[in-house]
Parts: sequence; C-alpha cells; structure tokens
Amino acid sequence: MPEAYDQEGIVNQEKRFSVALQRYRDTNAGEKMNPFAEQEAWEDHQIGKATLKFGSKDKKKSDDYQFVFENQIDFIKASVMDGVNFQDELLTESLEESMAKSAFEKLQEDRKTLPIYRYRDELLQAVQDHQVLVIVGETGSGKTTQIPQYLHEAGYTERGKIGCTQPRRVAAMSVAARVSQEMGVKLGHEVGYSIRFEDCTSDKTVLKYMTDGMLLREFLGEPDLASYSVVMVDEAHERTLSTDILFGLVKDISRFRPDLKLLISSATLDAEKFSDYFDSAPIFKIPGRRFPVEIHYTKAPEADYLDAAIVTALQIHVTQEPGDGDILVFLTGQEEIETAEEILKHRTRGLGTKIPELIICPIYANLPTELQAKIFEPTPEGARKVVLATNIAETSLTIDGIKYVIDPGFSKMKSYNPRTGMESLLVTPISKASANQRAGRSGRTGPGKCFRLYTAYNYYNDLDDNTVPEIQRTNLANVVLSLKSLGIHDLLNFDFMDPPPAEALLKALELLFALSALNKLGELTKVGRRMAEFPLDPMLSKVIVASEKYKCSDEIISIAAMLSVGSSIFYRPKDKQVHVDNARLNFHTGNVGDHIALLKVYSSWKETNYSTQWCYENYIQVRSMKRARDIRDQLEGLLERVEIELTSNSNDLEGIKKAITAGYFPHSARLQKSGFYKTVKHPQTVHIHPTSGLAQVLPRWVVYHELVLTTKEYMRQVTELKPEWLVEIAPHYYQLKDVEDSGSKKMPRGEGRAS
Ligand code: CDP
Ligand code: MG
Repeated sequence: MPEAYDQEGIVNQEKRFSVALQRYRDTNAGEKMNPFAEQEAWEDHQIGKATLKFGSKDKKKSDDYQFVFENQIDFIKASVMDGVNFQDELLTESLEESMAKSAFEKLQEDRKTLPIYRYRDELLQAVQDHQVLVIVGETGSGKTTQIPQYLHEAGYTERGKIGCTQPRRVAAMSVAARVSQEMGVKLGHEVGYSIRFEDCTSDKTVLKYMTDGMLLREFLGEPDLASYSVVMVDEAHERTLSTDILFGLVKDISRFRPDLKLLISSATLDAEKFSDYFDSAPIFKIPGRRFPVEIHYTKAPEADYLDAAIVTALQIHVTQEPGDGDILVFLTGQEEIETAEEILKHRTRGLGTKIPELIICPIYANLPTELQAKIFEPTPEGARKVVLATNIAETSLTIDGIKYVIDPGFSKMKSYNPRTGMESLLVTPISKASANQRAGRSGRTGPGKCFRLYTAYNYYNDLDDNTVPEIQRTNLANVVLSLKSLGIHDLLNFDFMDPPPAEALLKALELLFALSALNKLGELTKVGRRMAEFPLDPMLSKVIVASEKYKCSDEIISIAAMLSVGSSIFYRPKDKQVHVDNARLNFHTGNVGDHIALLKVYSSWKETNYSTQWCYENYIQVRSMKRARDIRDQLEGLLERVEIELTSNSNDLEGIKKAITAGYFPHSARLQKSGFYKTVKHPQTVHIHPTSGLAQVLPRWVVYHELVLTTKEYMRQVTELKPEWLVEIAPHYYQLKDVEDSGSKKMPRGEGRAS
C-alpha cells in the first residue's frame, strides 16, 4: 500500500537535512555547529535578567520566567471534560514493594491495573456467545495489548492465529513489542508483527499485530483467512482506507466461516454505526477511567502554532512542579517535530539547573525503532518529559504519565481530486472528535489540562464534528486492483460502510485500464494479476511488470526500492552544501534523470559492498539505503513469484526509461514557452522540484514520479522522455496530436474508459 509522502517542500527538507547532519556530526565528527549563536547570546542576556529578578524579588516563579521567553500565550479556561469513574483509585504500591519484584512480575501486576482487567471474564463470555463483537473503550484501557492475550489464554490460538490490525506501522511494532514483554517471549516468536516490507513473525507466531494494509494483502493469498481464529480490527474509529475495505471483506467471510471471531474495536463512542454495519452486532463497552480534563483555549487565534506550542510547553514546564506530570504536544509530521525538538533544546540550553530537566521525546512513523522505546520509559524524578508526537498518540499509542496536552488543532491529511487525479498531503484542521481524543490523553493518571492553540469560537464553529473517512478523499487505484484480484467485480455495489465518491472509483478504473491491468470489461488481465502481487502503487507495479519487455528488471527493482524509501536518501547540511551538491551531481552525470540517478546511487553502494563509510562520504543516509536493500530483496522474491526473469541491461538507459514510462505515462509534462511545465492530460502548471538533477536542465518532455504541493506544484523524481514513446507505449492514452508541436494548444482527447 502506498505510504504517505513523508515530507514537504525544500524549506522543510533543508531543515531536516540540517537536523540529520547535526546528529551525524554529534556522533561522528565530534564537532558542533550552532546556527543560533546570535539568538543565543541575546537569550543569555535575557536569562541573566530573569535570574537576577528571580533572586531579588519574592515573586511567583511564573512571573520571573516570563522574561526567559519572548512571548507568552494567554489562555482562557472554557470547560471541563468530565471524568469517567475516576474515583476508582489505581492500585498503588510502595516503591520498596515494586523494587523487589522482577520486571516480569511487575508487568503482570500492571496488566491487572488496566480498566479492562475486571471485565476479562465477561468479555471472554461475550466473544464466546457472539461471532461479531464491537468493543468500545477509552484509549489506554487495554484493548490492544490485553484482548489478544486474554483470547490466547482462553485457548483461541489452538484453532488458529489471532490477528490484530493497526492503522499505523509504529503502533503495530510497538504494541507487539509490549505484548511480547508481557508474555515473556521473544518478539517474532509467539508474538510478532507484520508491516509492509518487514515481517517479524515465524511459524510459532500466534498473536500477530499488523497494519490493516497487510491484512488486506493476506486476503490475496488466503481469501478465507483460514489460518486465523480471531481477527480484531482495532482503531476502527480511524477509518483508514484499508480498515474500511477490511470491514467489507471480513463481514463477507464471517458469513461462511462461523468459527471465525470478529472483533471491531474503537476508542470513540459512536459504536452504533459499526454495530449497524455488522448486522446489529452487540456492543461491549469497557467502562474507562478518566479524570476530569480542563480545556483551555487561546484568547486570540495563534498565527504560528509551532512557536505557540513551544512557548506553551515551556510555560507549563517552568511554572508547574516537575513531578506532577508530562507534556504531550501534537504536531503534524517529522520535520515539524524535529524543528520543535531543536528549538526546545536550544531554548532550554544554558538554563542549567535553573529549571528542571526537560526530556524531549519525539515519536513519528519513521522514527527508528531503538528511539521509539524512549517515550515509554518512566520519567526520572525531578525531570519532565515532553512528548512531541504526530496523530499517532491520539489513540494508537498510550503514553503513561501525561498531564498536559497541547493541541495546535492540525494534522496532515490526504486529499484527492478525482477530476485531475491529484493527490496531496496537506496540513488541515482536525475534527472535534479528534480534539476531544487529544484532550482525553491528559486525564489518564490524574486530572489533566488541555491547551488548545485556537479559540473556543474556532472549536465550535470551524471544526467539523468528525474526520471524513479516508476512502472519501483518496486515490483508489490500489484498493480497486486488490479488490479486483480478490474476484470482487461489482465495486459500485460493494458493501462499503461509507461509499467512496463514484467519480473516484471511475477514475481508479480508468487508470487501471490505461495501465492494462483491466480489460474493457473491467476484468483483471494477466498484467493486472502480476501487478497485484507487488505491494506498491499500481503505476510502480506496472513499471516492474513492463521491465520484462525491456530486459531490465534488475535495474528497475533497484529504482522501485529506492523510490519506496521516500525522498530521505540524501541530506544536505547548510555549511557543506557545495560538497553535497558535487557528490550528488556525480550521480547525475549526463543529465540521466532522477530515476537513473537513484539507480546509480544504489549500484555504487552495492559495488562498495554496501559500505557505511561510502554513505557518509556521499552524504547519503545509510538507514535509508539499508531499507532500500531490504525492499529490493523482497521485490526480487516477488519477481520470481510472477515469473519475471531477473535480467540486467544497465547500458540501455533508454530501455530503463521506457519501462518507467510504461507505468508513469499518465504523469507526463511538457515545457512551455513560459519556462514552466504543463501536464499533458488535465493541463496544469507544474515545476521541477529544486532537488531534481534536471531542475536546471529543463528538458522539453518529462515523466515524473509524484507531485508535491508546497509553495508551488512540484514534480518530484523527474526523467526526460521522448514524446514518441508516449504514443508507442500508451497508444490508447495518447495520440500523435497530443505530442506534436502543433498540438500544444489543443486539449488532449478524453481518456480511455473502462466500460
Ligand atoms: O488499546 P488501548 O488504547 O485500550 O490500550 P493499550 O494500547 O492496550 O494500552 C494499555 C497499557 O499498556 C497502557 O496503559 C500503556 O501503559 C501500556 N503500553 C505500553 O507500556 N507500551 C506500549 N507500547 C503499549 C502499551
Ligand atoms: Mg489501542
């Protein structure tokens, strides 16, 4: 399944590269740069003033620290979110008692303190009595980690695996790790996880955590999920595209597999909708435990939410006792989190012992596994943790000890225009439902506070009640191909919980037809069947299938692997830009285009026997390269499965480019007199991304991998093409008049229809 674009424009990219380098330097070269020197001096001065005051006047701490930060944010307390059953005291024990126990015993004790524990028997009874059960419970009540274990303890794994789906990779990995600890087994043995391009399971695995997309793919090999005794579709309220498709598929198989237990679990209370969809399945409510949460809004809208979030976090940190709880800040993505981390570090640097220690813990999808564990570690006494998280902390991951939540009110959301086929990932206001989930994160262990960086008016008038399900705002080509290969033909009448727009479905069918994955009757072709084997976007799968014809499958799977890693291959530290650009140019010799450049990077790395040193010398992120190698290995395995021979033809660059064009021909653009590009179908003005090797070259015709919208609509990963290839490779899509010079003013003809 396609992954979200993981970054935005050049600005952020530079930021990110500089951050990446900072780390590299910290660990490798031992030297440090300081882009903040000037500001630091100014702030030192301010701090000096603040501490002087602190010593001389007997004022409240908060007043003094005002001077540490340039600005402050005023909040008004507007409401209190009621607690639920918060009278129930947590089981407490003395420090000595808990020290005496082994870590394993401690975990077993912890399991018993979870709200779900006292409903264990009732829950098991309900699962026994009903085939389908909707389970609702507050985040942190123990649904994800406990229910599969209870079912295992009750013997369900004797009949088959228990599968539990998560919308996010990190959640699947982290929860599996936690459960394996709780069960005292090695991760990957009895408890494992499976995410795209990473399978951490074995024959022994009986509790399998996986992304919803992976379960969807398992249907291809095992349409009745015969090896499973229980399927738990977790985080159902998230309504990801894959979850929505899974609903339809599991509902269908539950009819002819009465032995299969189906659990649909959700953190929100609108469970009736799930129940209605699953033929009035009973709803099992786990009474939660949440303390009241005070909601604070800003008095006036905040122009810069990132800055406001940082200032608010610091305000809380210096004015509240450190032992009283940690801070959770919701940000929209990796770059933003890395920026916030840098600024926070910078602003607290030099304050020494004047303020308590602030431990900064980022968490986002691409964070290396070793670093993810940090957010779950207990906060040392006298310090405070500030967790900088994406939406992942909204319901997917429970972090204990949070007392303060800072909610800027945004998340990154995919949106799709079926008319143009353009998909973009934009920072968008969240829904009221999300805002309330976020606020709830602060009331888990005691009364909490949520600081919303927007006004009460914004909340009531501007935010939607619920997030629009992904199925209604995304490109459907991938799921349509999956459904078709499962033998589901009548997509318009598929049992969707909320149907996608008909236009988006048609668009997906059109694209698959254009790629020759479907025939005129909308049936899967041999090409389509082969494409469906690859867990990639259909256009990229098509490139791989087409590589057979051009005898360059070896090169193409390297390129596909590099594209799948995302754009985090190079980094570009500010003070070494000249060196970096030279290093990069090496791969672009002859203006071969970005795809071939990626291939050259991969091949050169391979020639050095996958050397880490070589990566450092070329400003290439070794972690990305290792991932590319893993992905490539898997693609090689899949090639064998679809019986495409591994053939290499590295001198025939034209063949490689033609194979790329065979999948990406709908993404063609031509240079205009204005110096800008126009996409050939659905004419739209676009530009070559500045990081592209062709950004200065401006070939007349190009094919691109994707569009990213930042300040402008940019094409990323661009390769030059000859216009006659379009007619040669996709005669059903392009005609001569589309590519002739005289035809430049004409509108392209209508697209091939799938009917
Ligand atoms: O799924 P739900 O939100 O109901 O809760 P859960 O994910 O099963 O989490 C239950 C408890 O397990 C939380 O209180 C966390 O403290 C703990 N947990 C953890 O320590 N580490 C994880 N990776 C996941 C959960
Ligand atoms: Mg959960």
